[in-house]
Amino acid sequence: MMVLAIESSCDETAVALYKGVLERGCGHVLAEKIASQIETHARFGGVVPEVASREHLTALPPMVDALMDEASVSWSELDVIAVTAGPGLMGALLVGSSYARAAGAVHGIPVQPVHHMEGHLLAPGLSGALPAFPFITLLVSGGHTLLVRVDGIGEYTLIGQTLDDAAGECFDKSARLLGLPYPGGPEIARLAKQGDEKRFKLPRPMLNRDTLDFSFSGLKTAVMYAVRKLGGIEQLDDQARCDMAAAIEAAICEVLAKKSVRACLEQNAPRLVIAGGVASNSTLRTLLASYGEQLTLFMPEPKHCTDNAAMIAYAAFVRCSIGKQPSGDWDARPRWPIEQTAA
Ligand code: KG4
Ligand code: ZN
Repeated sequence: MMVLAIESSCDETAVALYKGVLERGCGHVLAEKIASQIETHARFGGVVPEVASREHLTALPPMVDALMDEASVSWSELDVIAVTAGPGLMGALLVGSSYARAAGAVHGIPVQPVHHMEGHLLAPGLSGALPAFPFITLLVSGGHTLLVRVDGIGEYTLIGQTLDDAAGECFDKSARLLGLPYPGGPEIARLAKQGDEKRFKLPRPMLNRDTLDFSFSGLKTAVMYAVRKLGGIEQLDDQARCDMAAAIEAAICEVLAKKSVRACLEQNAPRLVIAGGVASNSTLRTLLASYGEQLTLFMPEPKHCTDNAAMIAYAAFVRCSIGKQPSGDWDARPRWPIEQTAA
């Protein structure tokens, strides 16, 4: 089975071709491409939705052509076009889904809508076997911080989520307070390597509360006060910036790791998948790996943690492999709770 996938939910235009054997439920990525809009949005300090839609519109068609050429695959060889239908920015989602629908209609290929977070959640399957069910997934991206119990494909139960800012958002907003460019996560991770996490004391929000929910807006506020105490952003020298970055990274990662471990133990599901952009953070990966006696950790390759189309192709393929056929009637959905993905 050959899948062409399109991802355009936020600020990355991504396309991928995945070839798999349905009966075996596995396959491989033939080719993938990604065009980041980060430089365009960086000067605004965050993603501007209208600008994102326009960039997807110009980037997508030539990317698909180049992808098919590179892999020497023709439209007639495709079985399914998979496209991210939500959640995400409405205009951005509409570019991908309109393109997919038009291409599907022209070439007579079914189009399968995919939930962006389901793509992230299944991404470890791109480089190895998926964990046995049930397993727990920590989904941490720019817009989401979710703990999901997975009992099967499409059988997702939300067991924890952020009450305010997402973990990635906290990285991004804190980075901004330190005068670092967007997106802040990779910048903070880079500076943290030269920093002393103990110099500044930052809170671990909701860590000791009896809930799997998160809250990160207070942490960002604590960073704001700490920067003010040092005399403001202009007074921050390079070492203070690195030490603060290390403290921010340590606080976010400790909360994420400890709550995820708690979720696995409470749910009696000692298998943890981490996914989403923040899951590419090496401190978080190392911290979680240290709980090896309590759980088995499944991580996509870093390039498949951040937004990509290979994960969208794989999610569509896995659904087809268990007989959940593409649905004809769907719309792009900027808000789409993961629990509503059952076929
Ligand atoms: O999943 P993703 O690529 O896009 C969304 O769907 O949001 O996640 C992007 C988020 C951004 O907030 C970015 O700062 C964060 O992931 N991120 C990181 C790292 N790489 C990306 N956060 C911490 N450490 C990283 N290495
Ligand atoms: Zn994402």
